[in-house]
Amino acid sequence: MRVLVTGGAGFIGSNFVLRTLATRPDVELTVLDKFTYAANPRTLEPVADRLRVVKGDIADADAVDPLVAGADLVVNFAAESHNDNSLRDPSVFVQTNVVGTSVLLEAVRRHDVKLHHISTDEVYGDLDLDDPSKFTESTPYNPSSPYSSTKASSDLLVRAWVRSFGVRATLSNCSNNYGPYQHVEKLIPRQITNVLTGLRPKVYGDGRNVRDWIHVDDHNDAVWTIIDKGVDGETYLIGADGEVDNLTVVKTILRLLGRPEDAFDFVTDRPGHDRRYAIDSTRLRTELGWTPRYTDFESGLSATIDWYRDHSDWWAPSKDDVEASYAKTQRPLSAP
Ligand code: NAD
Ligand code: TYD
Repeated sequence: MRVLVTGGAGFIGSNFVLRTLATRPDVELTVLDKFTYAANPRTLEPVADRLRVVKGDIADADAVDPLVAGADLVVNFAAESHNDNSLRDPSVFVQTNVVGTSVLLEAVRRHDVKLHHISTDEVYGDLDLDDPSKFTESTPYNPSSPYSSTKASSDLLVRAWVRSFGVRATLSNCSNNYGPYQHVEKLIPRQITNVLTGLRPKVYGDGRNVRDWIHVDDHNDAVWTIIDKGVDGETYLIGADGEVDNLTVVKTILRLLGRPEDAFDFVTDRPGHDRRYAIDSTRLRTELGWTPRYTDFESGLSATIDWYRDHSDWWAPSKDDVEASYAKTQRPLSAP
């Protein structure tokens, strides 16, 4: 099978590539990636002789067309992915997440190539902390941020191309991922690398916001399960029952790194900050038979901490820029 992985040099896409190389000898991989700030060229260097890597933009039809024409399947991980950035400059989110997806859809339509579109649970908006419900495939879309609204737009485009033009596509909406090769702008790598570089972790607002954590390998195994067994036109939610609030995440990181659990700062909250995400992945588990392997968040987090401790050469070059950028908008708060 010839698979085109868009965004394959980013966090989840590169883990998908590495896992596919390790588990699927029958797959021939091509990566199309714009190599934005979020892509680290070091990630795929060790496997460079086992795949083709093309630098290009999913919104560039001339770059996309021949690559799609030569594939049996496109898996679309390419996106602008960080909420905080989308509040600073939404325009690139519209361009990549919306326009880019529409260009991919026109190419898969033209060449009758199957697409799996990767998306997020953030398209559903947020839940109250005391709400017993979780997101399901039938929860109405209600995105809050420029990031999540552009991802919601991309999902709706995929669904429309399926219905109107008979494009063969599946979709998945996953909860927050953690694991190796995640950019240091995101919560878990930011706080691990803060502690490793002598900075204090930074918690937005009151820190009671809840995210539903899943290990990136569990996400990518679910993606392959959907590619193998999913029904065209359908959406599958991916989650591993990993609800944890941000305060607990940060205190656990501090404890695992041998620091006092209160050695962090509260900082100004993110505007429009979603309170809680939670996924009900019953459909994926019962219809397609997927189950997560990383069910103990603390041991997955501990392995992730070890990875960042052992790979400072991978993340150190971007650390100062990320912290300088955050420092422009984030001010310390006294404990709420
Ligand atoms: P990431 O920011 O780490 O990687 C995105 C990759 O896309 C980068 O390699 C970047 O260079 C590339 N890219 C950006 N714009 C591009 C363009 N115009 N053309 C080609 N390549 C481009 O993001 P991630 O965390 O790996 O997320 C991947 C996908 O998974 C996204 O669609 C995101 O919405 C979704 N998702 C992420 C999470 C999470 O917790 N990180 C959870 C659920 C879903
Ligand atoms: P993030 O990793 O940006 O993912 P998302 O916005 O997609 O959920 O943030 C996860 C949670 O952590 C979110 O509630 C915001 C919060 N957060 C902090 O408290 N401090 C930080 O430094 C960052 C980056 C995020």
